[in-house]
Parts: sequence; C-alpha cells; structure tokens
Amino acid sequence: MNIAVAQNTPRQISLNSHLFHRGNAPDSLRHLIVDISRAAKYIQNAIRTTDTGLAGSSNQFGEEQVKLDVLSDDIIQHHLSESRLVASYISEEQSEVIQLDSRAPYSVVFDPLDGSSLLDANFAIGSIFGIYEGSDVIGKKPAEQIAALYVLYGPRTTLTYTTGSSVHEFLLNDVGEFILLREFIGVADIAKNYSPGNLRAVQENSAYRSLLNTWLDSDQTLRYSGCMTADVHHIFAKGQGIFSNVGGKKYPEGKLRLVFECGPLAFLMEQAGGSASDGTIRILDKVIEKIDQRTPVIIGSKTDVQKACERLQNPLL
Ligand code: AHG
Ligand code: MN
Ligand code: MN
Repeated sequence: MNIAVAQNTPRQISLNSHLFHRGNAPDSLRHLIVDISRAAKYIQNAIRTTDTGLAGSSNQFGEEQVKLDVLSDDIIQHHLSESRLVASYISEEQSEVIQLDSRAPYSVVFDPLDGSSLLDANFAIGSIFGIYEGSDVIGKKPAEQIAALYVLYGPRTTLTYTTGSSVHEFLLNDVGEFILLREFIGVADIAKNYSPGNLRAVQENSAYRSLLNTWLDSDQTLRYSGCMTADVHHIFAKGQGIFSNVGGKKYPEGKLRLVFECGPLAFLMEQAGGSASDGTIRILDKVIEKIDQRTPVIIGSKTDVQKACERLQNPLL
C-alpha cells in the first residue's frame, strides 16, 4: 500500500505555535496574546485606510488625539473585552482603570498608538502592551508583568513578545499571520547607537546636557525617530543601543509613562539582556502609584545605561 508523504513545504512558525512551544505560555495567556495580535491587524489596516487628522478631543494628559488614537483604543478594548480573559485594563487614552470581569485571570496595560504625532509624516509607530496576573495593577511593579509585547507598524508590521524568558519577533505576512522572524533576541552590553529623547530638557537639565555631550564626543551614531517603540525596536534589531527620555522644566519626570510605555519595554529589554533605569532605580522596581505616572528612562545596552546613570548623577559641568 502506498502511503502519502507530506510535502516538504518551508516551515513557518506561527505566533500561536511559538507561544505554545517556546513561550511556555499557559493556554489562557496564549489566547490573550493571540487576541491582542488580532487587534493589531485591525489597527494596521486602520492606519492604512483612515486619515491622519485630529479627533477633536484630548486624552488624560491633555494631548490632542488623532482619529487613529481613538480608533486603535476602541479596537483594543473590543478585543480585550471579547477575549473574556481580562479582569481590568488601563489605556493611555482612558483616565480610569476599566474593570471588565474580576474573575478573569489577567489585567492589561497598553498604549494603543505610540508615536501617533508621526502619523502624517508616515514614520513608524507602535502599540505597546503589558500583561499582569490578577485584577489590579496599581500598587504593583512592572517586574510583576508576566508578559509584554509591542507591535511596530513600519514598512513592515512586526510583533515582539516576551513571556518572561527571552524575546522573539514575528512578521505579519500577506495572509494575516504573524510568522517567526527572529527568536532569542539579545542586546549587547556596549551601545554603538544613541537615541536621546526630550532633548529640549538640556536647556534646564545640565546633567542631561553633560550626558548628551559625552555621546556627541564619542564614536556612537545617533538614531532617533520620535517614537519610543521604534527607537527601542532599533536596539533589539541591531542588538545594541541606548535610548533616553529625561526630565526638564516642561516634563520634570520626562515625557514617558511608567505603566504603558516604560514598564512593558523595560520588561522586554531585561529579557534580552539589556537594562532600564530611571537614573537611580530599575524601572521594573518602581511601584505603580497612579495610571498617569511619568518616569525618566534610560534603556538599552547594560554598560552604557550604567554609565549614563552615573553621568546624570555626577555631571561633568
Ligand atoms: P504618544 O504618541 O503615545 O503620546 O507617545 C509619544 C512619545 C514617545 O513615543 C516618544 O519617544 C516621545 O513621545 C517623543 O516626544 P517628543 O515628540 O515630545 O520629543
Ligand atoms: Mn506613547
Ligand atoms: Mn499613544
């Protein structure tokens, strides 16, 4: 009897399969991350098909929302609610913690569209997510996340996740599946690229000016886009780099938010062997006191993060 042998097609590993085999994610977490990735596909489509104009409203930070900030937030809220796996969530675009079902296993924090002011310039933008167990995030530390991921909408759409051990990147293909691109992403201790955010702060913050000068006087190369997701992704993609966003007069704690920007990206960075600090303490050790909490952040290659924190504490004036 002839037995048909399966054709040798190129093996492509899906996000779902990777979460199961490599990510060691329990089924409920795997389903939640896959549901989030489905939301990202709708956002990717919305970015292509929605105009880049203002929504005519502001978020909790008083920042003008573009239509896509609101739309992306709606898409994610819909998918989280439909998953039945989410007890509560916190969005950059909502001023309160939203409670869904206290019996559900997870809480999710997210920035629906990071870098949305770059939309009309057609620069890369992202969505950032952190996942916690239980129904409360306030009072916890980002170290307690059990998973974090971001989606980058650039010339290609990619998704990068960690479930608490190592970092893996996926590419959205033409049939709408996230396929493994690179696994076990590592970040070297030494940075060749630097990415200094909120640079207007050097006018008031002489320590930040001193840090900037050490970068300008070094052989390091500037790589800054204005979207933290894209700038941190650059570090993962190149396997080295450093990104900063430090306070000045307008934003004494820097511009970025602990809960849905720095926390998840710091969790990913540490899993790749890098580090993230506010200049004094590890981002992952900061207690989340309120949802709109800002924090300075220096993130990336370990040795350079350490040196940058030392320079901010002891500036060469
Ligand atoms: P968001 O679009 O979610 O408000 O975040 C944008 C953030 C961050 O991604 C970026 O690094 C920073 O704002 C840039 O700020 P400036 O444009 O003020 O430099
Ligand atoms: Mn943001
Ligand atoms: Mn945003």
